[in-house]
Amino acid sequence: MEFKVKDISLAKQGRLNIEWAENHMPVMMELRKRYAKSKPLKGLKIAGCLHVTKETAVLVETLKMCGAQVAWSGCNPLSTQDDVAAALAKAGIPIFAWRGNHKEYYWCIEQVLKIKPHITVDDGADLVFTIHKKHRELIPDIIGGCEETATGMVRIRAMAAEGKLSYPIISVSDAQTKFEFDSTWGTGQSTVDGILRATNLLLAGKKVVIGGFGHVASGIAKRMKGMGAHVTVCEVDPVKALKAAMEGFNVSSMDEASKFGDLFVTATGCKHVITTKHIRNMKNGAIVANSGHFNVEIDVAGLEKLAKKKRTIRKDNVEYTLPNGKKIYLLAEGRLVNISAAEGHPSSVMDMSFANQFLSVLRLAKSKNLEPKVYEISREQDNLIAGLKLKSMGMKFDNLTKEQEKYLCSWEEGT
Ligand code: ADE
Repeated sequence: MEFKVKDISLAKQGRLNIEWAENHMPVMMELRKRYAKSKPLKGLKIAGCLHVTKETAVLVETLKMCGAQVAWSGCNPLSTQDDVAAALAKAGIPIFAWRGNHKEYYWCIEQVLKIKPHITVDDGADLVFTIHKKHRELIPDIIGGCEETATGMVRIRAMAAEGKLSYPIISVSDAQTKFEFDSTWGTGQSTVDGILRATNLLLAGKKVVIGGFGHVASGIAKRMKGMGAHVTVCEVDPVKALKAAMEGFNVSSMDEASKFGDLFVTATGCKHVITTKHIRNMKNGAIVANSGHFNVEIDVAGLEKLAKKKRTIRKDNVEYTLPNGKKIYLLAEGRLVNISAAEGHPSSVMDMSFANQFLSVLRLAKSKNLEPKVYEISREQDNLIAGLKLKSMGMKFDNLTKEQEKYLCSWEEGT
């Protein structure tokens, strides 16, 4: 079996971390119990391109336990946990991933596609994209794919709108048990975690500027506020901006906020939210980070060109000196700070996201001749996952009585 990881001798620590994740992923453990015996994925080949973390390892090994043949690569040059990658390699998974893989990122995807997948599992749609652009010969054998993230779904929906999507995709990203928890709580906490690991900054009293107020950015804004920061939100969507204002955040344009922020965090899914014009406006010592999927939200190339000096201060923290002598600090190269400088979303929240991935793979495995379009997660799947999670937390929830069910479906009972 072929694999390429940084250091196979890290496997023992990786296995301990995977066990730690399993202990905090009760929904995944329950699904394993339900499906591992009957091997519903037997005979299916699955290619994955998704951050190689201890939580992803739980998904990968669940797919394998259920009978699938799996090959995996990372979906970001900085997000691979090398010990986990080593543990997966040791467990016999063809895995091509290491932290700091800028040069061979697409080579790794090519290796994974050699499996000739029936199902693809993506976070950011790089497999879908590579297959459509360079490996169309694989498409006839592909049943479908699952996409984890909103940014990936933007790409896929754009392909579908142009009639260019050639196989069906389930939007895991739009599951309620995904975006209301992982995007908001997971990114919120892990973004704070990444920024603190890279800076050890005291957030209390700092002027923190958040680019965006979607599910991800609003989670970051709320966690920052909870840590005592004065938070300003910059939005292009007036409804989201209004929501931020009503939730007690200062709302401003980036042109204005760039003059007073101590710390800037982007999470919009769009490019050039922070440009060199904004960087020139910034105070000496300003810190800039991104928690959106791609490294396009901050104009890093522009900053590189503008700066006259650059030096690494500590892990994931690079100081740029501008021509006027001001120093600006960029975290994790402007890539996902929550998973590059920290460990990504905690296991407990990935439990629900990956339960959605797993159940979506099962749905594809059972499907025949689906149209090449975007499919949503069912209400039943969301309810199943939420119910299992609540049970694992020892919490009960109510059920509608027959009388209540009837009332909710009728119009005759009035005042
Ligand atoms: N995306 C964000 N956090 C993650 C994690 N812990 N594992 C996999 N993908 C993630």
